[in-house]
Amino acid sequence: MTTQTAQTPQTAQTVLEARDVTMRFGGLTAVRSVDLTVREGEIVGLIGPNGAGKTTFFNCLTGLYVPTEGTVAYKGTVLPPKPHLVTQAGIARTFQNIRLFANMTVLENVLVGRHTRTKEGLWSALLRGPGFKKAERASEERAMELLEFIGLEHKRDHLARNLPYGEQRKLEIARALASDPGLLLLDEPTAGMNPQETRATEELVFAIRDKGIAVLVIEHDMRFIFNLCDRVAVLVQGEKLVEGTSDVVQGDERVVAAYLGTPFEGAPEDTALAEVQAAEAQAATDSTTEGDNQ
Ligand SMILES: Nc1ncnc2c1ncn2[C@@H]1O[C@H](COP(=O)(O)OP(=O)(O)O)[C@@H](O)[C@H]1O
Ligand SMILES: [Mg+2]
Repeated sequence: MTTQTAQTPQTAQTVLEARDVTMRFGGLTAVRSVDLTVREGEIVGLIGPNGAGKTTFFNCLTGLYVPTEGTVAYKGTVLPPKPHLVTQAGIARTFQNIRLFANMTVLENVLVGRHTRTKEGLWSALLRGPGFKKAERASEERAMELLEFIGLEHKRDHLARNLPYGEQRKLEIARALASDPGLLLLDEPTAGMNPQETRATEELVFAIRDKGIAVLVIEHDMRFIFNLCDRVAVLVQGEKLVEGTSDVVQGDERVVAAYLGTPFEGAPEDTALAEVQAAEAQAATDSTTEGDNQ
């Protein structure tokens, strides 16, 4: 065995290693034998059409679902599929559909995100008992640092539900960061954002990476993905179709075809499809008019 010396992308520590992850719901295989590795210092993208299994894969990584097959390891240790143990190990996430405590303030939401790192725990945080109040003072400084980092410090006392959508997304990121993760999973972080907010989120993700947190991000905004990611994996119908650098993935005609729906060589053309549909419609009309209504 060779000795590891420098932290090059090849020798950097493996943060996440998902092996052969399969998730079946009854007869539907939403994720099929997916392998994915994220190394220290990396931003990895996960793309694919709606329904490809991206969120399901995230749910398998974070213990929300128990994968039908396969294992998920964080820094060399296989994780039990329990959300709180996964968070404790060092993986944090945001959700495609924002999940904030709407009637709590911005600061309180971040403090709740810290509960895995304080001995007081979630219920104490939610019920705001005396133990929480004490831990709160110790945690508040850290929470304010995070709010400054994402640019929401001026809204610390606003209720989460009163924030504009883009700021709610940012707050979710701050809450995830409050658990001091080594890996952050982002599920469509720029959904519903305007182009300016999207660019700002790009900068935020780079800044998170620069803090030493690896990032795995699902996003439909291709410019965002290809600007940001060191590596991109493409999921189609639950399977990993292609994985590579942004350049490689962008140039792969299977990806263009599967993801963007652009015709490729050998694919039926729109006109051919339209002809088939027209013929089928005609046949349906014929059968109703000529059918011998028994
Ligand atoms: N809890 C569930 N029960 C049954 N089917 C599910 C469940 N979660 C997701 N699916 C199905 O798995 C497939 C992948 O969904 P999802 O992971 O949300 O895709 P994506 O995030 O790529 O748009 C879809 O067909 C979806 O309906
Ligand atoms: Mg999804």
